Amino acid sequence: MAKTPSNIALTGDRPTGKLHLGHYVGSIQNRLKLQDTSDKSYYLIPDVQALTDNSDNPSKVSENVIEVILDNMACGVDPKKTTYFIQSQIPEIAEMTVFFLNLVTVARLKRNPTIKSEMQQKGYGEDVPAGFLCYPVSQAADILILRATSIPVGEDQLPIIEQANELIRKFNHIYGEFFHEITPVLSETKRLVGIDGQAKASKSLGNAIYLSDSDEVIAKKVMSMYTDPTHIKVEDPGKVEGNVVFTYLDIFDADKAEVENLKKQYTQGGLGDVVVKKRLIQVLQDFIGPIRARRQELEKDKAAIMKIVEEGTKRVQEEAKAYMKEMKKHMGIGYFY
Ligand code: TRP
Repeated sequence: MAKTPSNIALTGDRPTGKLHLGHYVGSIQNRLKLQDTSDKSYYLIPDVQALTDNSDNPSKVSENVIEVILDNMACGVDPKKTTYFIQSQIPEIAEMTVFFLNLVTVARLKRNPTIKSEMQQKGYGEDVPAGFLCYPVSQAADILILRATSIPVGEDQLPIIEQANELIRKFNHIYGEFFHEITPVLSETKRLVGIDGQAKASKSLGNAIYLSDSDEVIAKKVMSMYTDPTHIKVEDPGKVEGNVVFTYLDIFDADKAEVENLKKQYTQGGLGDVVVKKRLIQVLQDFIGPIRARRQELEKDKAAIMKIVEEGTKRVQEEAKAYMKEMKKHMGIGYFY
C-alpha cells in the first residue's frame, strides 16, 4: 500500500528561450508560494523534453538551460528552498518512461489536446517525432520519480496532468497501489494575453514582455499594445474589456482603486490611451526592474549557478535511484534484491 504522500511541489520550464510575464503569472508566482508551504520543492529543467521538437537544433536547448535557471532564481525561486535539477542527468526518468509507455496507446497520445494543438502549430501531421508524441508520458515520470504531488503549471498543461493521472491509475490497477495521483496548481490568472490581444503571450507568437526586458523595450512594447480600436479621440468612450493595457493593469498594478478609477474615466470618455499606457509602463518597469537587476547580478558568475544546479541534480540522482529500486521491486522485477 502506498504511503500517505508528503506535500511535494515540482515544476519546470522547457529550456527553449528566456521566460516572460506569462510564465510569471501562470506558474512562477505559485512556485514562490509552494516553496514556502510544501515539505519539498523541485525545479526541473526538462532539456530532454525540449529536444523532442528541437532535435535539429540541440544547442538551442543546451544554451537555454542557464537562461531558464537565471529567470527563476531572479524571480526568487530560491535554491535553498527549491532543488534545481536537469532532466537529462536522471536516467531513471527515461527508465520509468519506458515502463509507462506500455500503459498508453498511440491513439490516446494523439488525442491529448495539448499535443494535438502543438502538432498542428508545428505542422507535423503523421510525421510527428515519436519522442514528441510521447512527452506527456515522460513528463509523468519527471513528476513521479520524485513522488511530487502538487504541480504548478499553466492552463495549457492540464491535459498532460490528466494523462499522468490516467497512467497512475492504470499502473496501480495492474501492479497494486504504488503512486498517488497528482494535482495541478493553477494561478488565478490562468493565461496572460499577448500584447497584440491574442489569447496567449508566447515566445513563438512574439507578443510577450520578457522578465529580462530593458526599460526601453518595456516602454516600446506597452506603447504598441492592443487597446480599443474604436477609441480614436480622447473624448470617445473606450472599452475596457479586451483592452490589453487594462488587463495588464488589473494583474500588475497594486493600486486597485486607482485602476477602477481609470477604467471609469476611460469608459466615459476623456481619457487617452497614452496616459493609461504611461501608467502601465511605470508599473511594469517597477515590477521587472528588480528581477532584471538580480538576473544581471547572477549572470556574473554562471559557473557558481551551475554548481548549485549540479548539487541539486546529484541529490535527485540519489533519490531517483532508490525510488526506481522500490518501483522495480513493486513490479516484481527486483530480481537481485
Ligand atoms: N511541459 C512543461 C512546459 O512546457 C515543462 C515540464 C516538463 C513540466 N516536465 C514537467 C512542468 C513536470 C511540470 C512538471 O512548460
